Amino acid sequence: MADTENSKSRVLIIGGTGRLGQRFVRASLACSHPTYVLFRPQAANDLAKVDLLISFKKAGAHLLQGSLDDHESLVAALKQVDVVISAMAGTMVRNDILQQLKLLEAIKEAGNIKRFLPSEFGVDPDRLVNSIEPENPVMIDKRKVRRAIEAAKVPYTYIMANCFAGIFLGGMGQFGQGFIPSTERVSLYGDAKTKVIWVDEDDIASYTIRAIDDPRTENRKVHIRPPANILSQGEVVEIWEKIIGHPLEKTQISGEDWLKTIEGKPLEIQTIISHAYEIFYEGCTTNFEIGADEKEASQLYHDVKYTSVESYLKLYV
Ligand SMILES: NC(=O)c1ccc[n+]([C@@H]2O[C@H](COP(=O)([O-])OP(=O)(O)OC[C@H]3O[C@@H](n4cnc5c(N)ncnc54)[C@H](OP(=O)(O)O)[C@@H]3O)[C@@H](O)[C@H]2O)c1
Repeated sequence: MADTENSKSRVLIIGGTGRLGQRFVRASLACSHPTYVLFRPQAANDLAKVDLLISFKKAGAHLLQGSLDDHESLVAALKQVDVVISAMAGTMVRNDILQQLKLLEAIKEAGNIKRFLPSEFGVDPDRLVNSIEPENPVMIDKRKVRRAIEAAKVPYTYIMANCFAGIFLGGMGQFGQGFIPSTERVSLYGDAKTKVIWVDEDDIASYTIRAIDDPRTENRKVHIRPPANILSQGEVVEIWEKIIGHPLEKTQISGEDWLKTIEGKPLEIQTIISHAYEIFYEGCTTNFEIGADEKEASQLYHDVKYTSVESYLKLYV
């Protein structure tokens, strides 16, 4: 059932105080969806989160205090909306992605949710089943959540957003080098020719909000592959060098040597290194064709004028 005032689906965002979640809140409001944000009680102790919540309120969002551990409050929140987007993030130590199974139980009980978008927004966890060790537990948990949603027959959309621009372009693909591109040097993954997909987080939110009411995306995977943003690390570095007007000092690391850097690192860092190998050496964001039963966002939603890698990188000068 849509909102009677403006006939747009009512959207509940879980994780709206997070990095991607806050963009979903803004994109949902920008598309005139009645927008609800579930925030945890502990946000009250974090001034930056309180400021953010107040900014949502001023922009017209409805704020709902709640928790995944409070089933009754969750069901009550769900009964007010049509669509649920979760932007929860998992860590090695806290399996928050699996907490979404509690959300799924509440969705089943509420019985009125016409689309659930679980927290995905990366690479396709079903395509990384045989990935190199150690596998990121977040991928394992995302697969478990998918299977539970499908078994419950709750209508879903899984969004594959590939590489977040702020994290990946900011560091020119490097890890542990900060999120502002260096004007002096860069470390390249091998020949740096493997194609990678880079997507502005605001564009991820714009595509996601368009998908929530679209019958073409019901029970489908949606990949975000803006054609002009399918570039190798080497091509990204060239664009950056053109912007800053001089070449960077470059070092290369072979795939074998990259994997050796795993030795002796804490598990969380190991999984980051192995995931970088999958992206920058194996090409896990681009080394497959999108299936006939899957969709690609930039082909579905031409009205989203996505941000090119070049214009994103220009933000840093
Ligand atoms: N493709 C990429 O490059 C890429 C990069 C990063 C992340 N991702 C994916 O994008 C998604 C969102 O990540 P993010 O970086 O935006 O996350 P984030 O900034 O860490 O935000 C996570 C949000 O989830 C909320 N949350 C966590 N545990 C919760 C719980 N138990 N109950 C209720 N809320 C909870 C947090 O609430 P509080 O504010 O109260 O803590 C926060 O609002 C994840 O699936 C992540 O794997 C993809």
